[in-house]
Amino acid sequence: MTQTQVEPTTPTPELTQAPAGGVQLVKLNVKILRFNPEVDKKAHWETYAVQAQPTDRIVDVLNEIKWYQDTGLTFRRSCQHGICGSDAMLINGRNRLACKTLVRDVAKAGGTITVEPIRGLKVERDLLVDMEPFFDSYKAIMPYFINESPAPAAERYQSEADAELMAHSSNCILCACCTTSCPIFWVNGSYLGPAAIVQAHRFIFDSRDEATQQRLNIMNQNTGVWRCRTAYNCTEACPREIPITDLIEQVKRAVMFQQA
Ligand code: SF4
Ligand code: SF4
Ligand code: FES
Repeated sequence: MTQTQVEPTTPTPELTQAPAGGVQLVKLNVKILRFNPEVDKKAHWETYAVQAQPTDRIVDVLNEIKWYQDTGLTFRRSCQHGICGSDAMLINGRNRLACKTLVRDVAKAGGTITVEPIRGLKVERDLLVDMEPFFDSYKAIMPYFINESPAPAAERYQSEADAELMAHSSNCILCACCTTSCPIFWVNGSYLGPAAIVQAHRFIFDSRDEATQQRLNIMNQNTGVWRCRTAYNCTEACPREIPITDLIEQVKRAVMFQQA
């Protein structure tokens, strides 16, 4: 048996070898929309050269920039595991969670990743937006369980089939990816927005909740479900894969028939 001579491969200019473990790093440019209200009149782009593993997440890349290149870079993140919903941002023009987005899914070696704040909310600084209007809409739907009946001895029983009705909506992490990708919300900030409607759905379709009628009345106001034009932006943006537009349609039908 003859042995085939394997030509040594030369790394491409975009790839470098990390010292330990043979991990391949890719060179990237990260273009970030920056805004510091203390010195800037308007936002401007700044580009950072970084090296990252293809399996790194965008939040790792942003941390790297903040820790080693520009400590002023401002953005939110907390759990870094897709649970707290605090690091929604526009990555390559699409709303995503920075901690759930891998480098390899948004850029090739030598490529550029763009990062901007989510739209429709006031930018406080860099990628940090004022979330108050978003949470005001959340509060407006009464996001708490209402049941004045005396508690049963054991539990407020809910069947599996009834629990299934709110299975999608109870997955929401309030990240705002949906609401800030909605063109109706961009032009009319008084629209409660898809996230608030998903949260309302969670209680409207909870068989144990007794405030269904009140909730449907809120949804029926001119800031509620009828503003939705079924454009599906929200569904595409949701990192939890919640079928938002379908849930909005369910709420619309419940309002029309005044039942859930
Ligand atoms: S489906 Fe409705 S809520 Fe979702 S983005 Fe479109 S208009 Fe907005
Ligand atoms: S419905 Fe999805 S996109 Fe909207 S806030 Fe909840 S988790 Fe985020
Ligand atoms: S940091 Fe918590 S969801 Fe990304």
